Amino acid sequence: HDKVIVGGNVVYYNIDESFAETDKMPQIHIILKEGATLKTGDQLTLVESAGRSALNGGQWQFEIRYPQAYTWEVEETTDAEGKYTLKVRVVSEDYSGQGEAGYEDDDEDNGNEDIPQLDIEAEMAYNTPLRTYAEKNNKFVGTCVPVWNINVDDDNDAKTKLIAEQFNMVVCENEMKFDATEPSQGEFDYYHGDRLVNFANRHGMRVRGHALVWHSQVPGWLTSDGNKNSFNRSREELLAIMKNHIENVVGHWKGKVAEWDVCNEVLSDDQSAVRTDPNAYTLRPSVWQSIGEDFLDSAFVWAHRADPDAVLILNDYGVEFQGQAKAEAFYNLAKYLKEKGVPIDGVGLQCHLDVGNVDINKLKATIDRFNAIGLRCVITELDLGMDDNEANRMQQAKDYYNIARIAMEADNCNELMIWGLTDAMTWRGGRNPLLYDSDLTPKPAYYGLHQGLRETSSAPTAISPLPYGKPSATHVVAETYYNLQGQRITSSAADSIYITSQLMSDGSVRNKKVINR
Ligand code: G3I
Repeated sequence: HDKVIVGGNVVYYNIDESFAETDKMPQIHIILKEGATLKTGDQLTLVESAGRSALNGGQWQFEIRYPQAYTWEVEETTDAEGKYTLKVRVVSEDYSGQGEAGYEDDDEDNGNEDIPQLDIEAEMAYNTPLRTYAEKNNKFVGTCVPVWNINVDDDNDAKTKLIAEQFNMVVCENEMKFDATEPSQGEFDYYHGDRLVNFANRHGMRVRGHALVWHSQVPGWLTSDGNKNSFNRSREELLAIMKNHIENVVGHWKGKVAEWDVCNEVLSDDQSAVRTDPNAYTLRPSVWQSIGEDFLDSAFVWAHRADPDAVLILNDYGVEFQGQAKAEAFYNLAKYLKEKGVPIDGVGLQCHLDVGNVDINKLKATIDRFNAIGLRCVITELDLGMDDNEANRMQQAKDYYNIARIAMEADNCNELMIWGLTDAMTWRGGRNPLLYDSDLTPKPAYYGLHQGLRETSSAPTAISPLPYGKPSATHVVAETYYNLQGQRITSSAADSIYITSQLMSDGSVRNKKVINR
């Protein structure tokens, strides 16, 4: 859009989107849609308002953050009636470098100040596969597999071999979705899903299932448009269809698929409701939502009955950074489901993000917040889009490093899934978001992820690994140790007195003093 019309009064009391007081200058980010091309003279109206005043009688102050393209000029006008307009105009199609400053000093803003001096050559010396490090922590690093396009039956196929070597978890990119597994009503097709499960079994890999209830990739017999109940079926009919699908699909892979995205992308992209009600969430209209909001409860209950040991996940995108309206809504929904006894084990952050826009502190805050209410928080579809150049490749490596570090250190995150193998295979055509070039050459991103996994695996952590499959009712899901000064220590040292803090699977925390003789 070239402008956003906001009705009524926009009152800004120096509160950033995390609803916390902030001394940070508000920013207006100009982010161009993928593939957008502008020409000299193009202009965008960023702000139009009836007036411009501030509490202390001053004037609005904010920063404009430019894309890393073109040369821009600002024009502010206030007319006789006080009407304020802020416009920016493209004055040259050459890149002036304006955007760099924004990205650079954003580093301290979004908590990436401890970005490592990535030494790719040094990291290349460790020719250990990614999975080795995850396995040291009893965790998982994985990738989605387009089973239709990769010959997972042939262990000598170059891509198949690379996946088996590097990853200890896989998920079907499309082959376990509703349209693939139930192409005709009541007739199930497990062929391609079985191929992936067999491949995983051959290589000691965990399998996650994606996705049971979703508005997209639903078959034509169910509805002509996943966003609505186009055949006007009754609530009872739709519930019966959903129940039959879940019982058959989860039942078929019982004990073979360890985890399911039971419900995927159920939230609307517009979560402005949280601005007025901090506990709000707004569901996206869909064929399933037309059942009523309790379609969520039923989906999780039926999946749990079909495989009581499977870990059950609520998965979504645009929910990664605490403070984002949709992230607040996602937390509200998951908390509500858990509190009313729905058998939800955790949430999945898809993480379809862009290089340079990874706020690692807010990501950590998101993961920790779910931990505090006894929910897992896993990374399910990570990819980091960028224009392909040397600087962005290094930033991409740093972002993968930071995400790996945060995820692997979190007590309640046991998996990090990348959404695809090479940049030639990504659903984000042209955005170069993955670890490998089209010829299977590892990019700096691979080494960034590698360093993040290596560093978090070698440091002995005091965290007992999350059990796989269903933790028992009062199971210890994570344990951390502190000395008597309350400082965290890496392990229970022999012959010492220390405090152990245990996070129980029901969300409670149990502390006790231990005297080690
Ligand atoms: O199989 C048909 C083929 O027969 C046909 O010739 C071809 C051309 O139309 O289409 C093929 O189906 C495509 C399918 O991928 C398999 O390649 C669909 O058109 C295409 O839309 C589908 O895209 C998938 C997309 O989900 C659909 O929403 C992507 O591969 C997949 O990476 C993407 O993954 C989703 C996650 O499931 C949920 N989170 C978001 C993520 C990205 O959209």
